[in-house]
Amino acid sequence: MAVSLTVNGATRSVPAEPDTPLLYVLRNDLELNGAKFGCGLAQCGACTVLVNGQAMRSCVTPIDALAGAEVVTLEGLGTAEKPHPLQHAFIAEQAAQCGYCISGMIMTAKALLDRNPRPSERDVREALAANLCRCGTHNRIVRAILRAANEIGRT
Ligand code: FES
Ligand code: FES
Repeated sequence: MAVSLTVNGATRSVPAEPDTPLLYVLRNDLELNGAKFGCGLAQCGACTVLVNGQAMRSCVTPIDALAGAEVVTLEGLGTAEKPHPLQHAFIAEQAAQCGYCISGMIMTAKALLDRNPRPSERDVREALAANLCRCGTHNRIVRAILRAANEIGRT
């Protein structure tokens, strides 16, 4: 059957069963490969996207729960020519090693900055505590998020 959902501002119709995880639809049907499959069990955060502005783990979110919802993925934040301040800050701070966790980190950080534009370092660490990075890039990631908050605050 076909399921309709709104991703990055566009309504998309995909042939999928209602219990299909959003992550599979994003990657396999819509060719949006920012969100990653890490654990598939809501344990690592690599698949995090925004649903109605909230950070959600797309690996355990069935698409039939998304009727009328606005989904935003990493691809919806900015472009190579005009990156979002978070994307710019992650590049400026070189806040990645393998990069596998970074989409989920940025989307979780986006949700944080939307509800708390001036987070402390502690706020950032708490918000990101459940996002795993096996490369140990956490300190650079925290610096990048604080840098992005400063940049957004100046504009
Ligand atoms: S792949 Fe979704 S939380 Fe790990
Ligand atoms: S940069 Fe490799 S898992 Fe985070």
